[in-house]
Amino acid sequence: VPGTVDTCPQCLAPKAQKTIAVLGAGAMGSLFGALLSSAGNKVHLIGRNREHLDKIRKEGLLVEREGECRLYRNLQVSLPGDPLGPADLVLVLVKAGDTQGAVLENRGIFGKGTVVLTLQNGLGNMEDLAAFLPPSRILAGTTAQGARLAEPGRILHGGDGTTWIGRMEQSEDVLLRDTAALLEEAGIQTRTTGDVAALLWDKLLVNVGINGLTALTRRTNGQLLEHPDTADLLEHLVREGEAVARAKGITLLHPDPVAYAREVCRKTAHNRSSMLQDVERGRTTEIDRMNGAVVREGEILGIPTPANRTITQLVRGVMP
Ligand code: PAF
Repeated sequence: VPGTVDTCPQCLAPKAQKTIAVLGAGAMGSLFGALLSSAGNKVHLIGRNREHLDKIRKEGLLVEREGECRLYRNLQVSLPGDPLGPADLVLVLVKAGDTQGAVLENRGIFGKGTVVLTLQNGLGNMEDLAAFLPPSRILAGTTAQGARLAEPGRILHGGDGTTWIGRMEQSEDVLLRDTAALLEEAGIQTRTTGDVAALLWDKLLVNVGINGLTALTRRTNGQLLEHPDTADLLEHLVREGEAVARAKGITLLHPDPVAYAREVCRKTAHNRSSMLQDVERGRTTEIDRMNGAVVREGEILGIPTPANRTITQLVRGVMP
């Protein structure tokens, strides 16, 4: 029964229960929280969507995957600023740009031994955390898990991609290994890397090609490739980002990032990107941490990024 596992399946000894705070109760935060709680951890999901949190508090969180439904009843839910003690792990899944506010509002969950893992999209999240927290405790990564909030209390789990995590320069390897093990125990397939910058830029270039374009055209990821104009724009956006990454000395994990962005479009063909969902719900987008970040980094290095500048301005124009 999900949420009730409290012994190791191999030796039946009680598992070490960790206290985990998930900052951000969107689809991904809720999914990670549910999975981590089902492995016997004490998970606090912290978010602002009262309707969603109330539903979880009263009835549990329903996660649907390929027609199968699972109910997770052991998630604790909290509003930002609720008095909670220090967590062993804080998983940061608020929107890029909201990180510092979330840290300040929830200071109580950060103790001396707390490990902080950001799995947010875009650039600058590790740096935002390091403004308040010791860099030696900060990990960052990307996840190819797919999730969508269908309605309050109900998540659609699209797929089980790999979650990659790495550390800020000064962090200890043991933190990385232990955190990866914690995620793995919860059924989240996780790998570690020594080159977190490569990891973040690899994912960034996918978001740079897909997110702004889908938000403006209201197309699904797959539809971008069906229309020659958006397929061509996707290539321009990613190539500019690639030029900036290479000038920064980043060794991309996917040597052809355009081919990789197209592959993601095909694999997630029916997805409405996170930015398209933001625009549809009238929420602030992450454009400044994606295409906007490419423009800023390009300016520093003298690399022109006209397509990324235009898409950033257009998305800003669509959404205040
Ligand atoms: O932001 C998103 O929606 C996702 O990162 C991705 C990979 C573009 C798939 O929709």
